[in-house]
Amino acid sequence: MGVGVKVEKLNAWYGKSQALYDITMQAQANHATALIGPSGCGKSTFVRCLNRMHETVPDARADGKVLVGDLSVYNGTTAVQIRRRIGMVFQKPNPFPTMSIYDNVAAGLKLNGFRDHHRLDEIVERSLKHAALWDEVKDTVRKKSGASLSGGQQQRLCIARALAVEPEVLLMDEPCSALDPISTGKIEELIFQLKEKYTIVIVTHNMQQASRVAEFTGFFLLGRLIEFDKTEKIFTTPSDKRTEDYITGRFG
Ligand SMILES: Nc1ncnc2c1ncn2[C@@H]1O[C@H](COP(=O)(O)OP(=O)(O)OP(=O)(O)O)[C@@H](O)[C@H]1O
Ligand SMILES: [Mg+2]
Repeated sequence: MGVGVKVEKLNAWYGKSQALYDITMQAQANHATALIGPSGCGKSTFVRCLNRMHETVPDARADGKVLVGDLSVYNGTTAVQIRRRIGMVFQKPNPFPTMSIYDNVAAGLKLNGFRDHHRLDEIVERSLKHAALWDEVKDTVRKKSGASLSGGQQQRLCIARALAVEPEVLLMDEPCSALDPISTGKIEELIFQLKEKYTIVIVTHNMQQASRVAEFTGFFLLGRLIEFDKTEKIFTTPSDKRTEDYITGRFG
């Protein structure tokens, strides 16, 4: 099952430059939360703070409180523990190119010392089914490489890879920006189904996409969360003038 994500007064820096200011919000369990806002406003930084990827950048740091269920992300846990529970899918599909489809999906489990081959077969199949890719690859799963798939298939493979370790939260940073409309449609449909099992936080530049897939939407501007509400409210009657300007295209 998905768990909720609760963020309180999160600040983040790259060296001396502050990228996030006092972000407070909650992503509800088994729902999708969309993050929108102009380029450079801190959306990627924010999601990377949730699974402690932010600290992998030299000189970068964050403070504040992030709770994933009852697990405190910045207090008494390791980054490895956190990333086991929070999966991530990136803007550009990044499968391991020379590995087979099977090995791509199994990679995380193998890394964690998982050896039961029969069980591994089941998990790979289940993950590929969840990612709506199984039917297209079931006959070549051990033969074809990650790189031999189309862009949309590669992105679904990356989703399967993230799901294989059974996270509770799935972070998606512009997962469709490199995809054509048909592949995008498939991923959106998938997000809809994944909500039954996972909590989803998705960064998107596409406002139609936000309104199609997410129950809640947050609008970021210059490192601040300007407004957070039900998606419908954000896109029809936002409370803040800056949100309204952005969604109506009057921004900038
Ligand atoms: N590795 C980095 N080192 C230094 N500064 C960074 C780094 N990554 C991002 N920043 C800065 O942090 C701020 C927020 O960037 P971020 O990538 O989070 O924005 P974003 O909202 O995801 O933008 P986009 O929509 O273009 O992806 C920007 O000012 C950016 O220049
Ligand atoms: Mg970004």
